[in-house]
Amino acid sequence: MGVKIAGYGYYVPERVVTNHDLEKIMDTSDEWIIERTGISERHHVIPGEMGTSDLAVKAAEKALEKAGLTAADLDMIIAATLSPDHEIPGIGVLVQNKLTGCPTIPAFDIRQQCSGFVYGLEMASVFIKSGKFKTILLIGAEIQSVGLNMTTEGRDLAVLFGDGAGAFVLTDSQEDCDVVDSVLHSEGEFYQALWKELPTMLKQGRMDVEDILNGRQYPTMNGRFVFKFASTRMPEVILELLEKTGITKDKVAQIIPHQANLRITQMVAKRLELGFDKVFSNIEKYGNTTAASIPIAFCEALEQNRFKRGDYIVFVSFGSGFTWGANLIKF
Ligand code: ACO
Repeated sequence: MGVKIAGYGYYVPERVVTNHDLEKIMDTSDEWIIERTGISERHHVIPGEMGTSDLAVKAAEKALEKAGLTAADLDMIIAATLSPDHEIPGIGVLVQNKLTGCPTIPAFDIRQQCSGFVYGLEMASVFIKSGKFKTILLIGAEIQSVGLNMTTEGRDLAVLFGDGAGAFVLTDSQEDCDVVDSVLHSEGEFYQALWKELPTMLKQGRMDVEDILNGRQYPTMNGRFVFKFASTRMPEVILELLEKTGITKDKVAQIIPHQANLRITQMVAKRLELGFDKVFSNIEKYGNTTAASIPIAFCEALEQNRFKRGDYIVFVSFGSGFTWGANLIKF
């Protein structure tokens, strides 16, 4: 059984936050942000106006429309997010509820952070290839902005992230197999290099007022350490995937990496000895949208004719956990 990418779509909130807007609320500069990350602007929700599940539903509706299907045709939802509307339950069931006509199908939340979409694509693909499920909605959706420390103290992370969602509708197919194969990895040893410690199940009440006053509810990152691992693991896993599938890199029309940081993407191109035209980047406009970045980048790369039907493309990600992986697509 083959797996077809029947539909795809993305949604970002309307509010654009430029580097100059951030200069007004923290000690940073457009120059610093562009030089270190390549980001000029990102989209942020207006707090309280939309939840992650709302972004997810908007992307899902576009993907369903593109596929010529409705929610009634779905038989599974997989939602990748580290930023669910509520801690309990996840957004999978909220999406099931908000999509008009969606039956009472299984709805998963998965949380592999920046690698969520790559992990989810392998999961969906295996479910479809097994013959047990035929039409799966895969979503990567995040609201990062409301959970960051938007002051000088939190500036290293605050400038990086944006909000958004992307979705694929995957269907079974007797003729094509768009999702050829995947390689996934994890290395939990380094989970504290990029994490959010609180709230925790290791403490009665999960966190207290003092924790909040000390800003321990915000994510923290060892930026240089993450940079080193991301720029090593991403090219490494691409080569592993190409070797596994017997496809040479000159046959790949486009690498679509998780949009972590322009410098990481440039490093991936350099280490694979590929021209930068072969490695897609749109981080300038969206920042790092975590699990949403790959489907958003896929849609934009297609709009820009960076690849066409029949081409090989590779998705690659690295993120908190650490988790990383790659999917080979023959679109
Ligand atoms: N604006 C201005 N100055 C800043 C900012 C900011 N937003 N953030 C940090 N600085 C300052 C620091 O305080 C420090 O000042 P000091 O020298 O007076 O102490 C100085 O800039 C240098 O800080 P570094 O952290 O050493 O800066 P670095 O060159 O490492 O760049 C960055 C930071 C961009 C985060 C880099 O480490 C990086 O790209 N890391 C990769 C991690 C990443 O992209 N993570 C995304 C999530 S994970 C993923 O998606 C894979």
